[in-house]
Amino acid sequence: MLSGRRILLIISGGIAAYKSLDLIRRLREQGAAVRCVLTESATQFVTPLSVAALSEHKVYQDLFSLTDEAEMGHIRLSREADLVVVAPASANLIAKMACGLADDLASTALLATDKPVLIAPAMNVFMWNHPATQGNVAALAARGVHRVGPGAGELACGEVGEGRMADVPEIMAAIGRLIGVLPPEAKPLAGRRAIVTSGPTHEPIDPVRFIANRSSGKQGHAVAAALHRLGAEVTLVSGPVTLPPPEGVEIVPVETAAQMLEACLAALPADIAVCAAAVADWRVSNPGAQKHKKTEGGGPPTIALTPNPDILATLSQPGELRPALVVGFAAETELLLQHASAKLARKGCDWIVANDVSPASGTFGGDQNAVHLLTPDTVEAWPRMGKELVAERLAERIAAHFAKPHPTTSEVPA
Ligand code: CTP
Repeated sequence: MLSGRRILLIISGGIAAYKSLDLIRRLREQGAAVRCVLTESATQFVTPLSVAALSEHKVYQDLFSLTDEAEMGHIRLSREADLVVVAPASANLIAKMACGLADDLASTALLATDKPVLIAPAMNVFMWNHPATQGNVAALAARGVHRVGPGAGELACGEVGEGRMADVPEIMAAIGRLIGVLPPEAKPLAGRRAIVTSGPTHEPIDPVRFIANRSSGKQGHAVAAALHRLGAEVTLVSGPVTLPPPEGVEIVPVETAAQMLEACLAALPADIAVCAAAVADWRVSNPGAQKHKKTEGGGPPTIALTPNPDILATLSQPGELRPALVVGFAAETELLLQHASAKLARKGCDWIVANDVSPASGTFGGDQNAVHLLTPDTVEAWPRMGKELVAERLAERIAAHFAKPHPTTSEVPA
């Protein structure tokens, strides 16, 4: 099935490296040519000899090996493959990829490649859930790096949780899809349009000052990327953030709440709206046309505020253009569920993702989130996880919602 296909397999250090030997065998069985790069720590887990024997080719290890460079430079090594697979992808190698480091053959080949890259992370559950790793994984996803796993279960270190490298058949299926020999992954949201709001808004006080908040946009951007991965056509209306726009998503950059509302209305009709932005509740009634100056003996300026439009409530209003599913976020610092369920009713949306944004939670600006999903009849507590995973889970729930048969008008009992 993979006859004539070329895979560059990068094996980094981790107990899961033993599974990579089986991966090489399976790839060879299916006719793929496999070139392997071992990191230094990978050689603690598998020997170059076994990798060479299974791949039936020499193994590349050293960036500065003159013979290797003369025969096959690291640039060519990374470019001649159809796909670069990193299995296992250790926390360390993922961090290097995210930062663009190139201090050994594996990281240099990954920086130099112009081919699709698939990572199969494997590590301890705490390392996987660490905000640093979650941030790195999110950065790679935003750059279009593909990922398979990790799965949950008992880990080699004895702990239980997420971090197990995906099994070989799962990795083979991901490779098959990326190389185009298997049908693309099911896209349950194909044909659906989604609007996602993300980030803070900036409300000008004068040309140089503004009112803002601590939102980073990480959660909203991750939701946009996750919906896109499931096939939705996504418009991401984002306040000022420093994040790269997720691949494949239409981005509409805005500054103020008024602009955010206008951009959302312009993006209608849509099937799904997810309002993850931290919209300023008020704007300055009369922002100065010129910078406010201090005056001799004068006191501080008085800033009058006007309420901003509520984008979530506006999108939730019944009418022809109302998206079929409107999801809000509730950012609370106390009485999380009480405030969130009141918000669900007040805003008229269908679901609320409630998150604790008290300073102790580290949610605002951080990489992790512990959320509750509220629907009119249910409350689900999700375990603390990376924002990327919250987004994936939410996107899957949205896809499941649309997969359920909904009564057509004629079937609704009178
Ligand atoms: N939201 C919105 N437009 C606003 C304010 C909030 O679209 N002007 C959306 C947010 O994107 C989020 C939800 O409403 O999906 C709740 O936002 P949150 O800041 O938690 O609540 P507020 O509505 O601002 O209410 P409060 O300040 O009383 O908590």
